[in-house]
Amino acid sequence: MRLDLSEQVALVTGGAHRVGRAIALELARVGMHVLIHYNSSTPDQVRDTLQEIKSLGVDGFAVQADLSQPEGVQSVMDALRAHFGRVHLLVNSASVFPSGHLLDVTLESWDLTLEVNLRAPFLLSQACARLMQHNTPPGGCIVNILDMGVDRPWLKRPHHGVSKAALWSLTQVSALSLAPDVRVNGVVPGPVMKTNDGMDDETWRKMGEALPLKRTGEGADVGRAVVFLASESFITGALLHVNGGEHLT
Ligand SMILES: NC(=O)c1ccc[n+]([C@@H]2O[C@H](COP(=O)([O-])OP(=O)(O)OC[C@H]3O[C@@H](n4cnc5c(N)ncnc54)[C@H](OP(=O)(O)O)[C@@H]3O)[C@@H](O)[C@H]2O)c1
Repeated sequence: MRLDLSEQVALVTGGAHRVGRAIALELARVGMHVLIHYNSSTPDQVRDTLQEIKSLGVDGFAVQADLSQPEGVQSVMDALRAHFGRVHLLVNSASVFPSGHLLDVTLESWDLTLEVNLRAPFLLSQACARLMQHNTPPGGCIVNILDMGVDRPWLKRPHHGVSKAALWSLTQVSALSLAPDVRVNGVVPGPVMKTNDGMDDETWRKMGEALPLKRTGEGADVGRAVVFLASESFITGALLHVNGGEHLT
């Protein structure tokens, strides 16, 4: 059965810019009210995203929090309870993206990666699943944003890859533990937005050319996949690749 998401409430972590923002806007487009979480995004980025969400005729609200700290997760949940009082969809998109050879990974970087990419989604899933029990009917949906670390070892980003592979494992055990009321799924984007480290257009074009579909995607592709998983009531524990076929290469 296809669910009507309008008037429901979504929480999107890392939702003020880039892929998280694109997800938040696609959810607003189908009538969901959206709480965007951000950490170090600029006030302009947060304001612009909130304005665009509200221009789509739904409510939008923002909360700042460092998700490497359990207190940050608590702040997000406090804001959610105070502003909306309910949640139907949690999208765990916030993530750190460190690189380096396995032998050079520091304890500090390992911990931060696992804290933001795995522990925060776990704590938010627990807290949101509990809140979802108060919905009428009880329940909701969680979507974890993964990447190719799920499909293969990632030599250049070992701890990042481990964190995403573990998040996929968390996705599956959550899908079983929280059924039948809460559905939990994962999306694996491919190259949909250039990395923040000044990647040039030619490198980006070549990344697209290397994919079976011969082009890069865009943030909205990921957003529409999240809408699909949130709407389709018979899907849980699924992994949806939105990557131009990257996992087949
Ligand atoms: N871009 C792609 O093509 C691509 C491909 C595959 C998968 N993905 C996945 O899609 C998601 C978003 O990708 P992106 O490219 O938009 O990521 P990004 O540009 O690296 O942004 C990371 C997001 O995580 C948040 N964040 C980082 N550290 C945080 C912390 N300590 N506490 C709270 N929030 C924190 C950031 O918030 P602030 O900026 O507010 O600090 C930001 O919104 C990620 O899960 C990524 O793995 C992206």
